[in-house]
Amino acid sequence: MLHFAIENTNKFIASVPKSKRKQYGQFFTSKATAKFMAELFDVDLTLPEITLLDAGCGTGVLTAAWIDMVYSRGYKGNIKVTCYETDPKVVPVLIENLEYIKEYRHIEYEVKVENYITTQQFEQNMLFGEEPNRYDYIIGNPPYKKISKDSPEAKSMSSVCYGAPNLYSLFCCMGIRNLKEGKEMVYIIPRSWTSGAYFEYFRRYVFSNCILSNIHLFESRDKVFEGESVLQETIIIKLKKQSQKPTTIRMTTSSTSEFSDVEAFDAPYDSVVGRNRYVFLVTNKEQSDVLDKVNKMPATLPSLNMPMKTGLIVDFRTRDVLRDEMEEGCYPLLYSQHIKEGRVVWPQGKVGECILTNRKAYLQKNDNYLIVKRFTAKEEKRRLQCGIYLKQRYPQFEYISTQNKVNFIQCDSPCITYGLYVILNSSLYDAYYRILNGSTQVNSTEINSMPIPERSVIEEMGRALMHKELSETNCNQILEQWIR
Ligand SMILES: C[S@@+](CC[C@H](N)C(=O)[O-])C[C@H]1O[C@@H](n2cnc3c(N)ncnc32)[C@H](O)[C@@H]1O
Repeated sequence: MLHFAIENTNKFIASVPKSKRKQYGQFFTSKATAKFMAELFDVDLTLPEITLLDAGCGTGVLTAAWIDMVYSRGYKGNIKVTCYETDPKVVPVLIENLEYIKEYRHIEYEVKVENYITTQQFEQNMLFGEEPNRYDYIIGNPPYKKISKDSPEAKSMSSVCYGAPNLYSLFCCMGIRNLKEGKEMVYIIPRSWTSGAYFEYFRRYVFSNCILSNIHLFESRDKVFEGESVLQETIIIKLKKQSQKPTTIRMTTSSTSEFSDVEAFDAPYDSVVGRNRYVFLVTNKEQSDVLDKVNKMPATLPSLNMPMKTGLIVDFRTRDVLRDEMEEGCYPLLYSQHIKEGRVVWPQGKVGECILTNRKAYLQKNDNYLIVKRFTAKEEKRRLQCGIYLKQRYPQFEYISTQNKVNFIQCDSPCITYGLYVILNSSLYDAYYRILNGSTQVNSTEINSMPIPERSVIEEMGRALMHKELSETNCNQILEQWIR
């Protein structure tokens, strides 16, 4: 069945320009990925009838793979398939595929050429609450597309949206609503929801209703949807609608979507689904140990009244106040380029490194700071790169400023500044951050969520580093005395 559906899909892909399909968030799951996703289900083969949902089904590749899987396991009952798809061009191909399957298998199908999100009620309404349609199993590769917060889709699911959401997260929540208690849903989606503030409501909904039982990661993001240039890093997840947490989550990896080299690791559930319901994509024992060590720490930057914040100045919007050289009334403006081997070195003769303003919103107190780069290149060895700025080196200034491509932590003593440097410049915390966030950006929300030692320990660590070279090795040695 899958083979037929894939052949038909390839013909469709050849006939429609990529730009058109992009408008709908349309790219199709490959044969091997569809098979892998279908194999993840634990199907109750004793059910006389099974209902399957494939929302945003395209040509029905995932449905075909699912039916192949359940037949290969010897299922003899009836299968009722529901497919949602909004693109009228793809629907004839879908129907041809479903008709072909129907010739050989016991299926009934319903194709709903309608919007999966807006045609259903998501928000609970006490008075007029509709019971949602419920399915035994759900398989999906939903559209990945950022939509406006005022779009009908976002408005109809406002309780799981924060700012402008991505359609995939709405498909996922609606899927959970459509899933029967105790049953399973497998989706391939971007990994962006696993951390950060934007997906907080989404994660809350997911983990209030489901547990995660499997996650699959691809080592090479470019090869998952071959030829389709999907740049987002995608993962496959399996959710079960139940409240009882398992002790482990099966984490698998493969280098590409051929799945020829799948490796598996059973990670402790509580390490993967951590504080703030962030999801840590741990794929081996080494990473699991990193989480164990860091998660034992009692504090966070905000709990110590030192939250990380983002730099104040968007330089291209404030050109009028930027200066290349000091003049009367100017203050230093710190950029990521000023971070040199663990220290902030200013001035450097850089364009716009001085700021001439009295506007309070553009300035911050000249104090002790740890400055952290927000952006690093993929090939750079460390994601967390920081530099110490001490006010005693620049006593002539009442204020300084920071460009918004750096984050900063305002510290109340040089000792604390060095201590936080030990933490953020260590291999352990760099590894922790990489597990937490797969992108090259360093977000202050995520750094603020990281468990860190208590204040007195940070001070001790700072004292230990103060007169030493600011190397990663030295930071590791100091940190190891406190975190084992
Ligand atoms: C990423 S494609 C995946 C197609 C198919 N599931 C597969 O794996 O090959 C997502 C599909 O969802 C459809 N779609 C987009 N928005 C939709 C909506 N609101 N309701 C139903 N389908 C939608 C698109 O037309 C597209 O065919």
